[in-house]
Amino acid sequence: MSEKMWAERFSRKEDERVNDFNSSIRFDCRMYKQDIEGSIAHARMLARQSIISAEDAEKIEEGLLAIMSDIRGGKLAFDPDAEDIHMFVEAELTKRIGEAGKRLHTARSRNDQVALDLKMYLREETGNIARLLIETLEATVKKAEENLRTVMPGYTHLQRAQPVTFAHHMSAYAEMFARDLKKLKNAAENMDECPLGSCALAGTTYNTDRMYTAKQLGFDRPCANSLDGVSDRDFVIELAAVLSLIMTHLSRLAEEIILWCSWEFKFIELDDAYATGSSIMPQKKNPDVAELIRGKAGRVFGSLAALLTMMKGLPLAYDKDMQEDKEAVFDAVDTIKLCLSTLTPMLSTMTVNRENMLAACKKGFVNATDMADYLVKKGMPFRSAYKIVGTLVGECVQKGVGLEELPLKELKKKSELFDEDVFAAIDILTCVTRRESEGGPAPEAVERGLSSLEKRLTPLKEYFAIKRK
Ligand code: ARG
Repeated sequence: MSEKMWAERFSRKEDERVNDFNSSIRFDCRMYKQDIEGSIAHARMLARQSIISAEDAEKIEEGLLAIMSDIRGGKLAFDPDAEDIHMFVEAELTKRIGEAGKRLHTARSRNDQVALDLKMYLREETGNIARLLIETLEATVKKAEENLRTVMPGYTHLQRAQPVTFAHHMSAYAEMFARDLKKLKNAAENMDECPLGSCALAGTTYNTDRMYTAKQLGFDRPCANSLDGVSDRDFVIELAAVLSLIMTHLSRLAEEIILWCSWEFKFIELDDAYATGSSIMPQKKNPDVAELIRGKAGRVFGSLAALLTMMKGLPLAYDKDMQEDKEAVFDAVDTIKLCLSTLTPMLSTMTVNRENMLAACKKGFVNATDMADYLVKKGMPFRSAYKIVGTLVGECVQKGVGLEELPLKELKKKSELFDEDVFAAIDILTCVTRRESEGGPAPEAVERGLSSLEKRLTPLKEYFAIKRK
């Protein structure tokens, strides 16, 4: 165990167990790039403000860049004994450049440093997640475009309700993902204030230039209050909340995929590359990927709950509890990236079983509302029509037939308004193609929905296309 930076204050060495318990390097080492970029901006500012010399700043920058490339190249390993990534980089720098390295931590604290590193790290990951989500969204749009006329039952209470199309169903998920993208953009935009320069909690007596470092690091402005700057983790919670909502959407889609590829539905077939077998039942083809996505949603919600609970009782400003933010949010980020990058190819490669979807519409009276609407269009009040069709459905259930199989004679017994044209009106295809209302399942309505979606997506795609710093 190496000697701690703060050892002078103490008369006894810390217990080995405290050393291990306290250390965060095993997980915060992933922020080394942000830590180094933040330090370079800080050193430049210190020199610009004549707080350190230009030569020292240059040495610091060179030393830090060398450390970055050595870590990247696998030439420098993280010291598990270093308390955290901030201490590690600083100690390594001082080992390499001596005195100048010891000047880097002027007018700065690990408290503003860690808030900065995490914000920069999450800002970048928000973009990465958004780009993966755009791919998933595009896979759903492609499936929609290929299935504008693929009729399937729409469900409420998981009971066949009214006919829709597979395009309509896929577009519903595309809409959810578009909303998610808007929320990711919003979360990224809320990461626009730079904590650096808040120092430990109370700012500093040095003449620092916080706007300069903020701009260097791609922020709009510095955080307005130094106490808030070091103790705010809203941006972590907000991202975890958005990720939780995305996982909810992914999990609902996963659940439907699981249902659809069961023998009970057989609406889709997963590509063999995205299914798994059983160790005992030779016939099995299991949707493990979809099940894992559904399962992992709980994990991401867990991170959000952990973060909210961790923060709710903390007095201002920094408290060590906050070190717990990283594992929670890193796990949420890793999990969602894994889910998105596996789901997209699974969606793109699955095949749609059009015959089975259509066959499912033939049972379950999904055209019952259309029969009632037929009578309404001939002048009957909706409630009366509803009752007549209800009676007819009851009779059909007894006879084991569909509404379209009842002879006109039988229908006329219930209402004189029934005529030969009723059969065209309750034909499943007609039922779908006539549902042209805005947002409805008719192929033209879905196409209009898709082009409106495309327009709404353009600015979001542009925003995330620029790899934000
Ligand atoms: N490893 C710490 C964290 O993740 C860094 C900040 C530590 N600051 C302190 N005063 N102990 O929160």
